[in-house]
Amino acid sequence: MSRFTSTAVIGFLILLTACGKKDIADPCQGVNYNFQYLSFPATGGVYNGSIYMTAPSADTVTFSINGGNEQLTGTFTGLASGEYVIRAKNAKGCTDTVHIKIPAYGTRFAAVRQLVTGYCGPCHTGGAVNGNMNFDADESIVNAWDRILARTVAGTPSFMPQGGQLTTVDKTKISDWVNAGHRISD
Ligand code: HEC
Repeated sequence: MSRFTSTAVIGFLILLTACGKKDIADPCQGVNYNFQYLSFPATGGVYNGSIYMTAPSADTVTFSINGGNEQLTGTFTGLASGEYVIRAKNAKGCTDTVHIKIPAYGTRFAAVRQLVTGYCGPCHTGGAVNGNMNFDADESIVNAWDRILARTVAGTPSFMPQGGQLTTVDKTKISDWVNAGHRISD
């Protein structure tokens, strides 16, 4: 899961297209959205990615994805991996867009991602850094694959999570992912 915030300032195109009258005020001038959303990857080559827009949020705001139909909710499910353009539109017709990437997780990485989120916090998640490691970003897990293996499976120099150990089933999820190539797509 990832969470982002982006702000984009919407433009001035209406000035150019308003029936040739260039002196009318642009109703969208100064309107900008602070986009917020949750997004989930497409896992195992299946169209199961999703995006949930949490802001902007108002009865009068509609959403569309990749130029599709306007819809009242900001929920988009059944997505393949890829980059999507989500557009928000208010009652005055002012629009703003945000680009959201849905990664493709392999099933083994998805299991490891879930395990790390569940068992490696709060020490290595939510912005926390311990032993120089933070695992909020998918890439940070990929980059630390050897240390994650050493600390959770071999227990070298001591076991993680600190003060305990993963179950045998969960250790196997890590070694399976490592053996498969320790990529996001594995
Ligand atoms: C209760 C807090 C806590 C939890 C939970 C925890 N860690 Fe750590 N981790 C630490 C601390 C403190 C250090 C630095 C001291 C050390 O290396 O032992 C550390 C260091 C690390 C390091 C870097 C040091 C090295 O050997 O390369 C890795 C990798 C690591 N942890 C992996 C994990 C993984 C994977 C999990 C979840 C399965 C996890 N940790 C859960 C506290 C925690």
